[in-house]
Amino acid sequence: MTEVKTQEGVLPTKELYHPNIGSYQQAYKESIEKPEEFWSKQAQVLDWHRRWDKVLDESDAPFYKWFVNGKINASYNAVDRHVLRNKRNKAAYIWVAENGDEKIITYDGLYRRVNNFAKALLELGIKKGDRIIIYLPMILEAPVAMLAAARIGAVFSFVFAGFGAGALAERINDSKATMVITADGAFRNGKVVKLKSIVDEAIEQTSTVRTVVVVERTKIDVQMEEGRDIWWHIVTRDSHAYVEPEWMDSNDPLYILYTSGTTGKPKGAVHGNGGYSVWIANTLKWAFDPEDDDRWWCAADIGWVTGHSYIVFAPLFLGLTSIMYEGAITFPAPDRMWEIIDRYRVNILYTSPTAIRTLMRYGEKYPKMHDLSSLKVLGTVGEPINPAAWKWYYENIGKSNCPIIDTYWQTETGGFMISPSLSLGLPPLKPGSATFPMPGIDPVILDDKGNEVPNEEKGFIAYKRPWPGMFLTLNNDPERFKKTYFEKYKGMYYCGDYAIRDKDGYYWLLGRADEVLNVAGHRLGTIEIEDALIASREVAESAVFGKPDPVKGEVIVAFVVLKEEFEHDRDIVTNLRKRIREDLGPIYVPEEIHLVKLLPKTRSGKIMRRVVKAVALKQLPGDISTLENSVSVDEIKAAIESFRKEAGD
Ligand code: WTA
Repeated sequence: MTEVKTQEGVLPTKELYHPNIGSYQQAYKESIEKPEEFWSKQAQVLDWHRRWDKVLDESDAPFYKWFVNGKINASYNAVDRHVLRNKRNKAAYIWVAENGDEKIITYDGLYRRVNNFAKALLELGIKKGDRIIIYLPMILEAPVAMLAAARIGAVFSFVFAGFGAGALAERINDSKATMVITADGAFRNGKVVKLKSIVDEAIEQTSTVRTVVVVERTKIDVQMEEGRDIWWHIVTRDSHAYVEPEWMDSNDPLYILYTSGTTGKPKGAVHGNGGYSVWIANTLKWAFDPEDDDRWWCAADIGWVTGHSYIVFAPLFLGLTSIMYEGAITFPAPDRMWEIIDRYRVNILYTSPTAIRTLMRYGEKYPKMHDLSSLKVLGTVGEPINPAAWKWYYENIGKSNCPIIDTYWQTETGGFMISPSLSLGLPPLKPGSATFPMPGIDPVILDDKGNEVPNEEKGFIAYKRPWPGMFLTLNNDPERFKKTYFEKYKGMYYCGDYAIRDKDGYYWLLGRADEVLNVAGHRLGTIEIEDALIASREVAESAVFGKPDPVKGEVIVAFVVLKEEFEHDRDIVTNLRKRIREDLGPIYVPEEIHLVKLLPKTRSGKIMRRVVKAVALKQLPGDISTLENSVSVDEIKAAIESFRKEAGD
């Protein structure tokens, strides 16, 4: 055993886990010095129908093109090639229902279902380039629908089944989807969420949807609209279908995934076929080093990018066996995850710091009820992990035997950007640091003016060169793509996060530098919530911000000014909560809603959101000159004074 120094003292790590950091350094060096050769080699992890002419075309930057003129199909790489090469009987998914039922689907079973549904899509009039929305819970039809769309070249946009009707309608409208694939309902925490009725409500606010395919999961009563709605089990009756994969250009879109930004309108990140697939297959291999016989469990929801890349595409590309769990991690009891690991002898667990902190609260009793000795590697994603949670995870779940792979990345980046690389050579781990960049990733930490900051100083993290997994553009909005990500620092990708590089070169990710919240690892926009509040007839103005929380990272706090004719009362707050739940979804509901008579504003009428936050969190006094751009200190002081009295501080 060697010892690893951490901020929290010293944690033992086995020799085994950092045998050869040198080989990581070598791979990294090669990726930066000879990118063409490096990526040509890595791209061979997949089967190409036609080889590319050029690895990277930068002529239309920042619209980078990877593997130019290469032809590929994601569903072929996920299923066909495994069926052809000795894996037809291997389990692709071990699916566990919330009630504990299981279904095991082999690569051959998945192949048949994907073909089957691809044929149904064609028969329902869907063609290459059409947009379809998938609004499904964690059931096997979700990966089947994604792969079937990919097979025929239809561009899918998966909407997390926890979103409400307003959020769903917005995504249908922006993507101009002609089809929605959903289920009658979803099991969650022992209850049923009525997905189909949310779809019905959303479609009323849209005009493009011609077909709704409905999976029967819960058998609750649903309204089926004649001529528009059809059951999944009816359209997939022909179980002998074969659909020739559509050979997609490497830079054709594969999917659109909406994510929150700094305006009220979510951004539709468009991912391509070739570069994205190469990136996620390699990053999964590098970071977690899964072996052929391992059981991989990415415990995210399929509706977020983590699920897209690391429940569906990457593990299937690599021919792995994944666990897929339908329900809540604390249902029926807080040992649910540990019980699944024990029952299925899971080898690699990949989850979020919020999940770890939630389960940590219930104490060691629950993991102790189960045999977790099958675990070899643990991972986290979605938010910074605090050293205490890291240590708990390392000791109580990994039994001080499993390295923790803290993967830092974003919807836009497609796959891991900064993460320890187990297969290339693991560095000694420091709890809370995502360690070093993946091969091909060239990060830099800058101040506001674009100067590099010294080690140990906080700055904005940016990337000096493109990588294969980066998104192609924002749907319907190439200008916003350029402006949001490539204008702050010329020629670099700016991602909106703060970071520090320490004296040993380790990266520490410190959270969002913009008005985006990270609640329980979910990325939410403050302005989206403010817009939803203002859309209520009682509300005149609102300011929303994130308050630090020991379990969820952040929780949502809203200050609301009502229109004059409305009296302050509790019913209004209850109604506002209910409306946000129905419109945006339960994860958007503020933890606190405070009704006030005024909000601090600049002379030009802009709400000083950061002043609201500073007063509410009692972070004042301090340097108030940084609270607002282009506002005088006197103006801020006056705003603070009046708001303090108002907020009862
Ligand atoms: C944050 C999720 C610290 C970060 C994959 C990023 C992290 C945002 C980490 C993206 C991590 C993600 N350490 N922060 N390991 N992983 N983040 O698009 O602020 O839902 O910008 O993608 O989550 O969230 P998104």
